[in-house]
Amino acid sequence: MSDRMSRGVSRGGWSRAAIVGAAAGVSVSRLRAAEPGRALKIGLIGSGARGTGAALDAMNADPNVRVVALADLFADRIARCREQLLARISIEDKYCFVGLDAFSKVLELDVDYVILATPPHFRPDHLEAAVEAGKHVFMEKPAAVDPVGIRKVLAAGEKAASRGLAIVAGTQRRHHKGYIETVRRIHDGAIGRILAAQCYWNQEGPRNEARFLENRTGRPDFEWMIRGWYRWRWLSGDHIVEQHVHNIDVINWVLGTHPTRVVAMGSRHRRLSGDQYDWFAADFVYPGDKNHQEIRVLSQCRQITGCTKDISERVVGETGVSNCNGWISTVGKLDVKSPPEYVQEHADLIAAIRAGKPINEARNIAESTLCGIMARMSAYSGKAVTWDQAMKSDEKLSPPDVKLAPENLKSLIPVPGAEAGPPRGGRAPAAARKKGVAN
Ligand SMILES: NC(=O)c1ccc[n+]([C@@H]2O[C@H](COP(=O)([O-])OP(=O)(O)OC[C@H]3O[C@@H](n4cnc5c(N)ncnc54)[C@H](O)[C@@H]3O)[C@@H](O)[C@H]2O)c1
Repeated sequence: MSDRMSRGVSRGGWSRAAIVGAAAGVSVSRLRAAEPGRALKIGLIGSGARGTGAALDAMNADPNVRVVALADLFADRIARCREQLLARISIEDKYCFVGLDAFSKVLELDVDYVILATPPHFRPDHLEAAVEAGKHVFMEKPAAVDPVGIRKVLAAGEKAASRGLAIVAGTQRRHHKGYIETVRRIHDGAIGRILAAQCYWNQEGPRNEARFLENRTGRPDFEWMIRGWYRWRWLSGDHIVEQHVHNIDVINWVLGTHPTRVVAMGSRHRRLSGDQYDWFAADFVYPGDKNHQEIRVLSQCRQITGCTKDISERVVGETGVSNCNGWISTVGKLDVKSPPEYVQEHADLIAAIRAGKPINEARNIAESTLCGIMARMSAYSGKAVTWDQAMKSDEKLSPPDVKLAPENLKSLIPVPGAEAGPPRGGRAPAAARKKGVAN
């Protein structure tokens, strides 16, 4: 075990129970609306790239907001974060916490809100603990990686609402004035009744794969995986959940609901590391009205370098089309100036805390995340998945056994239709017949 791992994380002792247990006994801070002018204090949990960015965004949103405490699994990530924040604020050693229970140390402090920016696997437990501790929350997307986590987020969201706590999710677009004005006009009928929609997150594949694989030597598996978390589905949920959630969230927002069913597909061609698919395509079914019983939404997400890129949304109505962000065919380009949405998210949260009128985006982000999860379930299995099946599912993406020797860490890549047996004209390998194929 490395020094970085010595506080709270053990190779064989990893468990979700450890996280929850670490939060037990955290005292509930005094809930209050922050009177105008009072400085707000923030604790950052997950002091990596986005967490550090979010900390700066929050301080840019309001000069009277200060990041006062940091938590991370790794000391070097804390050090880098402190260095990057130094131009704005210096954080004392005694408020920098390292280890698996670091988040609970931050929650014990008198901070007004916490930024949750760890890999998504940890989000439900951290959100639950933050609400229990009486903190307002800014949480990065996605909300969870599996249905068990989604239910926990929904419960925490309800508890936050009952306690007057705000939760803002880092979906950005819901705080972007171009999106807000466009969606408002769509809701006001600018393109008539909505008939269909499309959304896309097609981007490059993961970088530095060879280096990541080489770096494995000498590192505990757990640390190695967490440092490359976006490659592993137990940590990220796969990229349809981790990344494409942004676009799906816009569609849910425009349609005002979530899908009832999905048929999705996907596969893996190019990745060398991790256990995720390279691409997914999903056909979501949303409820329509009595004349048109369903609205179909096509979604695509791909992470393969050298392919056509596209990150966008498109909604088709009876009388027009819109990109959901500043253009409607029946109106033209909208003249909307938006401050950076990364900053606006915090400005909106801070305003809500100061006014004592909490915003609560837990349900929105939980539902959008579950859309990605249900599509992933469908793509992996080759079967249609309904909303109810996904919502009730006991699927829980647990960490692999970190005691595995490196050569045994090969993960199973799901093979759609594997349950139906071998392909026609041949026998599938033994592993595929059982569940999937070894990576
Ligand atoms: N909204 C956006 O535009 C946007 C952009 C990038 C990332 N994100 C999201 O932000 C989150 C973090 O992404 P990132 O790019 O900053 O990753 P990152 O790896 O740079 O940072 C994550 C940090 O969390 C730490 N960490 C891991 N497990 C922890 C635990 N149990 N307790 C405390 N700290 C822990 C890691 O050591 C790391 O420093 C992800 O959910 C990602 O999807 C959102």
